[in-house]
Amino acid sequence: MLTTRFTRLVGCSVPVQQAGMGGVATPELAAAVATAGGLGMIGAVRLPPAFLAAALDHLGQLTRGVFGVNFLMPFLDPACVAIAAAKVRVVEFFYGEPSAALVREVHAGGALAAWQVGSCDEAKAAVAAGCDFVVAQGTEAGGHVRGRLALLPLLDQVLDAVSVPVVAAGGIGTARGMAAMLAAGADAVRVGTRFVAAAESAAHPLYKQALVAARAEDTVLTEAFSVMWPGAPHRVLRSAVAAAESLPADALAGETQVAGARLPLPRFAVPTPTHFATGHIEAMALYAGESVGAVRVVQPAADILRELTEGTERLLRQAAAGAVAAPT
Ligand SMILES: Cc1cc2nc3c(=O)[nH]c(=O)nc-3n(C[C@H](O)[C@H](O)[C@H](O)COP(=O)(O)O)c2cc1C
Repeated sequence: MLTTRFTRLVGCSVPVQQAGMGGVATPELAAAVATAGGLGMIGAVRLPPAFLAAALDHLGQLTRGVFGVNFLMPFLDPACVAIAAAKVRVVEFFYGEPSAALVREVHAGGALAAWQVGSCDEAKAAVAAGCDFVVAQGTEAGGHVRGRLALLPLLDQVLDAVSVPVVAAGGIGTARGMAAMLAAGADAVRVGTRFVAAAESAAHPLYKQALVAARAEDTVLTEAFSVMWPGAPHRVLRSAVAAAESLPADALAGETQVAGARLPLPRFAVPTPTHFATGHIEAMALYAGESVGAVRVVQPAADILRELTEGTERLLRQAAAGAVAAPT
């Protein structure tokens, strides 16, 4: 029932893309999502080419499902693109001008190319650059936020403007949200925050617990965590900003590891705390979307996916039958 242009293009069985999130979206998380029928993604922020190649080979051994790689443009190592394109189904970019040269390189390697965008103009530019699908990100999203519009008005514009499949992102944490997006014409949904709290994510256990405890009202769109990446708005738990503010100005929040190398984390540094992090976890960048209210427990990624897809099928069936959708 949930077959869409996205599932047919990508080759997965349910129209859910797990967001490729720097640090937390590891091969274990992507494999769990891919095996359960979604599009699993790894976040490739600050991963050197050899490390990325090994991670993708490992991922290929963990699942026979469909997976991809996400690159953040400000941190892109150009040598990584061809490596990724040869090993995954989808190579995707975020936070930079859509580039036809990068898309050509992805296609030359045999993968589909996608771009996460924050405006209708950016969506049109991504299509002009040759992207196979676009992800429309509303300001409800956790992590770095590209645009100024909430998801529904953005999706409305993008669906009218492009003919490639469109994935809706930002604040989607429940079957009701997913069903609404599909009913509005999106070809899939992209889910980030819910999967940060998955058992397989590499997020620090205290970060996962903070997500479980938070309500939708507890996030803020801010530029507070700007050390290492200034001027880039992002949505985090409000409590993390307050905890960082209470540290001395020149303090380290702690340290972490990226690709096996130690990385000290000054107060208000951008990297999110993974299970390698030590120090003031509560004062680090605890990215979270308005979807956080749907995080009730740390659970396997497959359970999250099942809850979303089974609930969406039920709601869409009820809507098609003309019934009033009752809360579950
Ligand atoms: C912890 C975290 C890290 C993120 N890192 C990235 C990233 O590296 N690349 C990217 O394209 N988007 C990143 N995002 C944003 C997601 O792609 C997506 O837009 C967002 O998670 C959707 O909103 P939701 O969190 O409410 O589901 C991140 C989001 C979170 C929560």
